[in-house]
Amino acid sequence: MNATASPKTSYQVNHRELNEWVQQAAEHFQPDQIYWCNGSQKEYDTLCQQLVEKGTFIKLNEQKRPNSFACFSDASDVARVEDRTFICSRKKEDAGPTNNWVDPREMKQTLRKLMAGCMKGRTMYVIPFCMGPIGSPISQIGVEITDSEYVVVNMHIMTRVGTAVMNVLGQERSFVKCIHSVGAPLMPGQKDSLWPCNPTTKYIVHYPEERSIFSYGSGYGGNALLGKKCFALRIASAMARDEGWLAEHMLIVGVEDPQGDKTYVAAAFPSACGKTNFAMIIPPKDLSGWKITTVGDDIAWIKPGKDGKLYAINPEAGYFGVAPGTNERSNPNAMATIAKNTIFTNVAITPDGDVWWEGMTKNIPAGLTDWRGQPYDPASGKPAAHPNARFTAPAHQNPCLDADWENPSGVLIGAMVFGGRRSTTIPLVYQAHNWNYGVYLAATMGSEMTAAAFGELGKVRRDPFAMLPFCGYHMGDYFNHWLQFGRDIPNPPRIFGVNWFRKDEKGNFIWPGFGENMRVLKWIVQKIKGKSNAVESPIGWMPHYHDIDWTGLDFSVEQFDEIMTIDREQWKAELLAHAELFERMYDRLPKEFIFMRELLLSSLWRSPERWSLESEGEE
Ligand code: OXD
Ligand code: MN
Repeated sequence: MNATASPKTSYQVNHRELNEWVQQAAEHFQPDQIYWCNGSQKEYDTLCQQLVEKGTFIKLNEQKRPNSFACFSDASDVARVEDRTFICSRKKEDAGPTNNWVDPREMKQTLRKLMAGCMKGRTMYVIPFCMGPIGSPISQIGVEITDSEYVVVNMHIMTRVGTAVMNVLGQERSFVKCIHSVGAPLMPGQKDSLWPCNPTTKYIVHYPEERSIFSYGSGYGGNALLGKKCFALRIASAMARDEGWLAEHMLIVGVEDPQGDKTYVAAAFPSACGKTNFAMIIPPKDLSGWKITTVGDDIAWIKPGKDGKLYAINPEAGYFGVAPGTNERSNPNAMATIAKNTIFTNVAITPDGDVWWEGMTKNIPAGLTDWRGQPYDPASGKPAAHPNARFTAPAHQNPCLDADWENPSGVLIGAMVFGGRRSTTIPLVYQAHNWNYGVYLAATMGSEMTAAAFGELGKVRRDPFAMLPFCGYHMGDYFNHWLQFGRDIPNPPRIFGVNWFRKDEKGNFIWPGFGENMRVLKWIVQKIKGKSNAVESPIGWMPHYHDIDWTGLDFSVEQFDEIMTIDREQWKAELLAHAELFERMYDRLPKEFIFMRELLLSSLWRSPERWSLESEGEE
């Protein structure tokens, strides 16, 4: 079939705008054929089989990992490319100082040239997909055009795909236009590579006013599965600003007390802070009767209901989680989720056809194949799995999935939590005095870098709301949107800061983390219900030692005191870093932030040099 032939489809496409857009795309990209995805299991199985035959997918051992596959990416294509990500708003000042910007007219010309004939020798897939439960008023529809089978099968897991979406789209409903090409056309007779991509040229481009996305040159994760970071965060954040809602880099968990009373908590952590682990924690058995359930592990769309309360959905249908470090202790629920029907990218493979990564087991199995597809030599000092190796797994396989995770009305959000990776300064937990200060706390969040890709290892990178790489407009406007949002609702959720990563003088983590984080969550949900107490510190409300349930955990008053201490000198440095961030976005910075910083400074000056619960707060 040639490119201008009518699309092959298993259903009638009556949507004129969609049809025309697909035809124009085909004329420009010149694929060998067009395939409209229907989202069926057969479609998924056929494409996986095709990827196996091509050599891209390795079928894993059916007994150990049923219906699962592994693949290795090109070494140049292993992560999101933030320096090649652009927000092409009409005006530069609307993209703001934290985004790359190019004039949209210029960018369109560049991409037009670059993408002429870019799908030659390939199939152009058209994927109608829904972000969020089909039929939910909070959900949104997109259509991704791609020349990658890997993208199609991953989108099957990560979003709702196909015929049901087309039915909602009807004849004229609007949709977000997502175009993706690996940027590797095939000439007649040319053998395809196992991971086609463009090793030298990559563009991840967003046009926020047009609500459209172009991605060229990469086949990996957030660069290519356009429903995720590109749509559900960058484009959706711009939609949310215009329409009065929030599109956030947040997980959502249900926290149920022994009486069966459930509170939903939304939490934002920068990348590499264990979000998926937190979204699936198993409470320590000593906190009997407490349960955690997952609504989402990465993204939340939050809208005010008619009652003025906030309701959230997880727009995704699967988890695209970081594999290294995931194990039976750190996240048993994730291990169960990925037991079958999972795609693994850039992990190592065992001789018996299963997967392995650093941190999965103490001992490295013999005879591994590494993520480059080579026999692994443990003496090489290199990891067998790439540090950003991923699993793509369906949410419904999560043993602690929340019963309401697909409720079209969303779940009622009771509290919001923000936390970076900080070895000093930030205490284990504190509560903002009010919404505005909570917005300040989230806006000034920082995290120590774990991947050299982002800069100096260990240096604190400011990551406002964990949205630095994901906000589709000016970050100062985003802060203002949050402040206004809080003014528009009668009783906004309480906001908390947490830090699981504080270290002692010897450099050891003070807090055990993982399931024990439940103790902090318990205090948070009881605090918002007025069932738990707190003391006022220079930076917000904090629990006393005896406000936290320590049953079954050996954690002393002294340790608690150490992890909660507020050191004035450290905080002065912290506030200087806030000022540095504010200067970058001064033109649109909320004036409230200047005053809140002053307030914090004066309250720190009036406090002891080392403010501690033991000296001040304990009765
Ligand atoms: C992710 C990220 O992949 O935040 O979810 O980087
Ligand atoms: Mn994320």
